[in-house]
Amino acid sequence: MANDTLLIKHTGTGKQAEYPLLTGTLGAETADIRSLYKDLDCFTYDPGFMATASCKSKITYIDGDKGVLLYRGYPIEQLAESCEFTEVAYLLMNGELPSEAQLLDFNLEISDRAIIHESLRKFFDGFHYDAHPMAMLVGVVGSLSAFYHSELNIKDPDQRMRSATRMIGKMPTIAAASFRHSVGRPFVYPRMDLSYCENFLNMMFSRSSQNYIDQDHYIDPDLVKALNLLFILHADHEQNASTSTVRLAGSTGANPYACVAAGIAALWGPAHGGANEAVLNMLAEIGSVENVPKYIAKAKDHNDPFRLMGFGHRVYKNFDPRATIIRKTCHEVLSKTHKNDALFELALAVEQAALKDDYFIEKKLYPNVDFYSGIIYKALNIPVDMFTVMFAIARTAGWVSHWLEMMEDPSTPIGRPRQLYVGPPRRDFLPLGNR
Ligand code: CMC
Repeated sequence: MANDTLLIKHTGTGKQAEYPLLTGTLGAETADIRSLYKDLDCFTYDPGFMATASCKSKITYIDGDKGVLLYRGYPIEQLAESCEFTEVAYLLMNGELPSEAQLLDFNLEISDRAIIHESLRKFFDGFHYDAHPMAMLVGVVGSLSAFYHSELNIKDPDQRMRSATRMIGKMPTIAAASFRHSVGRPFVYPRMDLSYCENFLNMMFSRSSQNYIDQDHYIDPDLVKALNLLFILHADHEQNASTSTVRLAGSTGANPYACVAAGIAALWGPAHGGANEAVLNMLAEIGSVENVPKYIAKAKDHNDPFRLMGFGHRVYKNFDPRATIIRKTCHEVLSKTHKNDALFELALAVEQAALKDDYFIEKKLYPNVDFYSGIIYKALNIPVDMFTVMFAIARTAGWVSHWLEMMEDPSTPIGRPRQLYVGPPRRDFLPLGNR
């Protein structure tokens, strides 16, 4: 209802205050409690932001109970069916789908910005050959701020858009360079004649350092299609941990490349973007279909740290719509490549066992997008430790869109949560000899 409020009463002091309930286009009403401390002298305690909206946003909407995901109002299923990744990135950044001419210009600009400075390329030489590609990604993307800082005016909307597009353009180049460095192969320069996904695959796998897409090493369009789909599904997911990190860093006015590097660091963990890598490691640990019941029992045992990776989601509590789309593609890619058959059989056995199990049913733990994405990446010959990097390439579209959105709003305050202090009360310092 339009003028509904939330009434909060402090039973100790008897003081009470009323807070407006804000209504968005979709989703739950949201109590505006910014004056709570002033009114009632208390904070709210919400670790993990279970019930806290940190911002207003027009970019992505999720209904976790109904399994709905919309980018700028468009259902993910429709975008996944018909779009190329850069079209979706344009939509996320600009709010509207591009016309043909706009998409052409955007693609040209992205290709044009894909090249990285030769000095930045040399940064890779400083990393040990076995450095995790995410470590290289976070370091090198952060270093972009050293190349684009003093001349960058983040108050200028055109410059902000240029930084965002530059980030999308350079991310596959930096990602592929991390991989090439880890396998000791020469860096492959980006090509303007290839699409976003083709170009990335070429930079990853070209043997000659120039032409992967030639008669000998033709890139299968179905595999390019699968990669494009994965990038679309991972492009944004509203205020997830990494996006919130980008926003928090951005709220201080920091350099946008440094903000994206912060997002990459947050993405790395196995509870977030590292989940697809963790799924493959988990399947390797399970080993074979006969072991599935043993591992399902381990996942249910609270005294055992083992969790079923790729299951559960903070927001989706019935099904993850991305998982529904990707599951089909997973079958298609694997039947085409005839790769990882045993792996896929094992993954299906885990999936079926968990879906039938009361523990997983009661706790509403369903396979999420990353349960399947790792299997597809494996079929595309992407090494396991590159999986989170793949996620980062796609999520860059979301990160920069959220950064653009928050920078457009001059009222965005610096992100600064409060805390419930549970440390020692005030006490007096004792000099070394008296402790
Ligand atoms: N295996 C076994 N038990 C689980 C799992 C799991 N994967 N996930 C949650 N539970 C249990 C958990 O032990 C808890 O049980 P209880 O209520 O008895 O204490 C209950 O389910 C609720 O779990 P929670 O950790 O409080 O739920 P959450 O919303 O805080 O965590 C999650 C969500 C995604 C971090 C968690 O489900 C998880 O760790 N999943 C595995 C990692 C994973 O696949 N992450 C990728 C998420 S999708 C990618 C993305 O969007 O970033």
